[in-house]
Formats: sequence, structure tokens, C-alpha cells
Amino acid sequence: MFYSQWTAVRTIRLIKIIVVLGFLVFGLIACTEQRTRKDGIVIADSSSYEASLYRQNCAICHGKEAYGKEVDGKPVPSLRFGDAKKRSREEIYNQIKHGKLPMPSFEGQLTEKEINRMVDFIMYDLQAREKEDSKVSQK
Ligand code: HEC
Repeated sequence: MFYSQWTAVRTIRLIKIIVVLGFLVFGLIACTEQRTRKDGIVIADSSSYEASLYRQNCAICHGKEAYGKEVDGKPVPSLRFGDAKKRSREEIYNQIKHGKLPMPSFEGQLTEKEINRMVDFIMYDLQAREKEDSKVSQK
């Protein structure tokens, strides 16, 4: 009698521990997902207009997911991390519009509106910058 009551108490305690652990694991998964979102979108999964512009015009050099690539033995930088993330809105805009060898100019190929949308795409979708950043860099 005493023994079975004790077992019941232990079982309840065990269930409580399992529930708490479950919440912990759930929370951890939620955090990891948030971190992935902070890393930017998956271009291949996106059906946005900018993603398709990226696939058509930029992926050949910057790589399918914009992590950079080697073209003819020369490195093409990532658009998600590194120097690209330090660029201001104007610098990214000018890079796309006027190019910088060996990157071609996209003036004439992309409209003004498309270039601006690509700047936003790089800053917010790929680099997941805080929206305030753009205000700072816009001065
Ligand atoms: C022919 C290959 C090529 C294509 C196509 C190309 N790029 Fe580039 N891009 C480069 C290279 C090479 C660099 C590095 C230039 C340098 O060394 O300054 C670069 C640099 C950049 C940078 C600056 C990155 C940094 O680290 O500061 C941005 C932003 C950029 N490209 C965006 C784009 C976008 C957007 C497209 C498509 C509309 C595009 N590029 C298409 C080759 C290319």
C-alpha cells in the first residue's frame, strides 16, 4: 500500500520533469529557428520578384544562395556576410547600378525601381539587417 503510493508520487514527479523538459526542448527549437531567420531567407525557397531577379542576374557570380563563389579562379564575395554587410545603402546601390570590375553595371538592364528593390533584398532579406540601419546609412 505504502509502496504503491510512493510509486504514484514518483510517477507524477517524472511526468512533471518530462513536461518541463518538453517545454525546454520546444523553446530551444524556437530559438534556433529564430537564429536561422536572422541569417536571412533561403533564396531557392522564395518566389518573390527580387529572388527571381537575383537568380537571373546575380546567382551566376555570387552563388545560388549569395554565399559567394569562385568564378574563373577569382573569388566573388558573399552578399550576406563580410564586407557586403558593412556597405551603406548608397554603396550597394552604386555597386549594382555602376558595377565595379569585374562586376558589370546593371544600369539599363534593371530599372531604377528594380535596383532599389535589389538593395532592400540584400539588406533585409539576405543580411537580415535591422530596418533602422538604413536610416543611419541614408543620413
Ligand atoms: C560577372 C559576375 C558578377 C555578377 C553577374 C554580379 N556580380 Fe556583384 N560582384 C562581383 C564581384 C567580382 C564583386 C567584387 C567587386 C570588388 O572586388 O570590388 C561584386 C561585388 C558586389 C557587391 C559588393 C559586395 C561587397 O563585398 O562589398 C554587391 C552588393 C553586389 N556585387 C551585388 C550584385 C547584385 C545585386 C548582382 C545582380 C543584380 C550582382 N552583384 C551581379 C561579380 C558579379
